[in-house]
Amino acid sequence: RVIDWDIETATKEGYPHFMIKEIHESPKAVKDTIEGFISEIDLIKEVADEIKNANRIIVIGAGTSYHAGLYFSLQLQRLGYTSIPIIASEYYNLKAKKGDIALAISQSGETIDVLQGIRKMKNEGAKIISLTNVIESAIARESDYKLYMKAGPEIGVAATKTFTTQLASLLFLTEVLQGGNINKLEKLHQEIRDTITKVEGITKRIGEKLSKKANIYYLGRGLSLPLAMEGALKIKEIAYVHAEAYPAGESKHGPISLVEKGFPVVIINDGELTDLLQNNLMEMKARGAEIYTVSVNKKMKDSDIEIYLESEFPAIVISPVIQLIAYYASVSKGYDPDKPRNLAKTVTVE
Ligand code: AGP
Repeated sequence: RVIDWDIETATKEGYPHFMIKEIHESPKAVKDTIEGFISEIDLIKEVADEIKNANRIIVIGAGTSYHAGLYFSLQLQRLGYTSIPIIASEYYNLKAKKGDIALAISQSGETIDVLQGIRKMKNEGAKIISLTNVIESAIARESDYKLYMKAGPEIGVAATKTFTTQLASLLFLTEVLQGGNINKLEKLHQEIRDTITKVEGITKRIGEKLSKKANIYYLGRGLSLPLAMEGALKIKEIAYVHAEAYPAGESKHGPISLVEKGFPVVIINDGELTDLLQNNLMEMKARGAEIYTVSVNKKMKDSDIEIYLESEFPAIVISPVIQLIAYYASVSKGYDPDKPRNLAKTVTVE
């Protein structure tokens, strides 16, 4: 069974595509989700306790949802938890045990690989937590704890507002795990709105430049790596430009040999590891690369175009930026970003 939003009744409300409309709906999606989490704080605390008491926290998702999951899993690892991120279609590589928690992340709540993964882990004794955008979706129904985003319908095949909302939900959970102050998350939506207003022009310029390329590297380090991965997926998916994400340091172990004059490199810098990223930037630049940087809280030097933002939650403001770059790359090539070739919104075959 596939639940999809009713495309016939959805309208673009003056926007040229659902994708850009949905990027602009991200502030509301995040606001509604954070408010929903605050109103369900007892459930969230219960989930946080399950995570605290688990032997291992396995985080499973596909595509964009995997990237949100990887982001969270890295956060958990930093907090000292044993967390394993798994790409849903590779679920058979992992044997869960009693005492494990599996967190399934899926916008649709119907992705078959995620469903198969949680069924296997449940049989092996793990408890299941789900984070989906569809009430009583298949994945939610098979979970012990159901968390919901309130992003509303997403028609564009490319996940946009739902990715930002997944990140916001997981940041909320991280705050609760640390006994932090969840009230500060109430301003996230405003930051997203301001970011979109600020970067619309510059992302269009970068998107147009990248659309003319055959290959792109997206580099990140630490928590900016999953965002680099998402940036690469998005531009590949809708603008049909081959893009590969690499941990920036790892790029020296092979990928850099491809770099020559004019090769585009997008560096995602969440402000934590700026000096190391700056070294990688210089290495790329020395080979003639064209450098685009998306930096939060700490500026980089020597990029051809830099987008600079400030935020206590870098991922949340980077997310719409990488989406807008991909969107403008797609439309500048004359493609319909809402309906990328060969792709379905919900993948229900293995
Ligand atoms: C995102 O832009 C993609 N269309 C795709 O990777 C998607 O995120 C993936 O298929 C997972 O879908 P889900 O979140 O509904 O499980």
